[in-house]
Amino acid sequence: MCGIVGYIGKANAPKVLINGLRRLEYRGYDSAGLAVLDDDQILVAKSAGKVSVLNDRARTQWPQELFNRVTTGIAHTRWATHGPPTEVNAHPHLDKSGDIALVHNGIIENYRSLRARLEGKGHHFFSETDTEVLAHLIGECDKGDLFQAVCDALHQVEGAFGIAVLSAQEPDRIITARRGSPIVIGVGDGESIIASDACAILAHTQRVIYLDDNDIAIVTADSVDIRDLNNVPVTREIAELGMDAAATEKGGYDHFMLKEIHEQPEALANAIRGRLDHDVGSSVLAGMGTSPRELAELTRVVMIGCGTSLHAGLVGEYAFEDLADIHAEVQQAAEFRYRNPIIGNCDLVVAISQSGETADTLAAVREANQKGAFVMSLCNVVGSTIARETGRGVYLHAGPEISVASTKAFTCQVAVLLMMALKLGRGRRYSREDGIKLAREIGSIPDLVSKVILQNDLIAKIAADYTKNEHAFFIGRGPMYPVALEGALKLKEISYIHAEGYHAAELKHGPIALLEKGTPVIALACDVPGKDKTLGNVEECRARGARILGIVTEGDHETAECMDDFITIPRCHPLVATIPAVVALQLFSYHVARLRGCEIDQPRNLAKSVTVE
Ligand code: M6R
Repeated sequence: MCGIVGYIGKANAPKVLINGLRRLEYRGYDSAGLAVLDDDQILVAKSAGKVSVLNDRARTQWPQELFNRVTTGIAHTRWATHGPPTEVNAHPHLDKSGDIALVHNGIIENYRSLRARLEGKGHHFFSETDTEVLAHLIGECDKGDLFQAVCDALHQVEGAFGIAVLSAQEPDRIITARRGSPIVIGVGDGESIIASDACAILAHTQRVIYLDDNDIAIVTADSVDIRDLNNVPVTREIAELGMDAAATEKGGYDHFMLKEIHEQPEALANAIRGRLDHDVGSSVLAGMGTSPRELAELTRVVMIGCGTSLHAGLVGEYAFEDLADIHAEVQQAAEFRYRNPIIGNCDLVVAISQSGETADTLAAVREANQKGAFVMSLCNVVGSTIARETGRGVYLHAGPEISVASTKAFTCQVAVLLMMALKLGRGRRYSREDGIKLAREIGSIPDLVSKVILQNDLIAKIAADYTKNEHAFFIGRGPMYPVALEGALKLKEISYIHAEGYHAAELKHGPIALLEKGTPVIALACDVPGKDKTLGNVEECRARGARILGIVTEGDHETAECMDDFITIPRCHPLVATIPAVVALQLFSYHVARLRGCEIDQPRNLAKSVTVE
């Protein structure tokens, strides 16, 4: 979604800002803009479309010398909410005087009433955005102290914001603040970088400060002064990013998605390393922050998430019930707080989120905290809001996931959920002997995944026969059912083929009406409990002319023969098998999308981190 970069220091600001925006491109956006401070006046360049278009625009609009002299500015990539992705709606927006520029992530919910009030006072608006209203409001509140003006304006605002504000009258500072939308400040040597995502800071420094909700900071080249909205100073620690800039490059792959699929053996090894205790057949997940007694007292596990993270939770549901004999369920994060969930202090609520910033999941975390549940998170992005608000949790250690389509985060989420279920299971019904066996299987996941990735060329060849269809169905049973959902999500989001995931038994309750000659049905037919019934459903589809691609277990020739095409996964525990199976579907979707010429890493309309409800 939208991205913010701000810079104040000694370097060429437009260059730093454009490079920062490029680092945020993966988040998804449809227009971009920047404002720089030149001789105490604000200059703005904006464009619809990509950051490269903005760069060209700025270079034709501004003289070359300007690029060498300006050292302060703010920039933005916009994912349209209020008004289409046009140049006029792009950020930064100026106040009435043109002396104040603002970039904003989030949504100002009461912008209509604020706009009407300001119009009554003679303000004229050029865009359809909520952000321009906030820019004017700050200008209206400005009585010669920008910091105070921003505080006063934010007191009148309802909704979510991450902002950076520049004023021609106070050129030595940028004011930044957050409520519900992340802001990170990079503390460099004689320079400061503000961003909505640490990826934009990496090239400058590893030292960062994460703002908390309702924090507002005065950022200069040499200092960061943080207060709350009532002007009371607050202390925020400087943290080390510990991120490698190379991890955010394509590294020779055509797309981040392909790179991230190939990174999975290593990502999974990192997620698992040091977390399995092979002697007692359990796992060591210190971040859960639970004593064995607390674990024993839990009566239910409730997982919350959206999209791919929700699907990981669905696999977790099977794992907790199978291994730990504990009631487990997954709830759609967007619904959680609107349905009065029955949650209490014997419930373990697990918030699953790659980014740790998804607005719906964050709101669900707050609701679960409110209800006194034992809340923990399963995030990838270190220092993200959900990770910080839950206080306890397990990081995935999958490394930066840049492609909008989630791949390595999903497999690492499932691996960590399996380890959690194993831990809970060992405290309940699961025997040491079974625990040791499963720990060994979990430890082998990176190798299982490598074996699937070795079939990349074969999968690419199979994919070539599935590029012309406009509809596809994915079917599975048991823990392979969520894998079918995830496979369908992967295919639809990057190839724009309409794909549906169904429980294999559900197909004949309606969707089978859509099958016709050649409709692809991708069947999760691995040799796990329920396979024979899935094969029965495959026959029902074949009888209606469907073309069947099976995900089958290595050596299961009989099943492979039932398929028009097949991809194999190694034989392993049924829950563990979900991971290699999904990797096969990730590669399949990737190749179908590539052959259809789709823009894989940044699919249309999608954002990497969905920070609005
Ligand atoms: O960062 P999160 O895991 O909270 O994101 C949740 C979803 O937005 C995300 O998984 C989305 O569905 C992906 N694009 C799927 O590939």
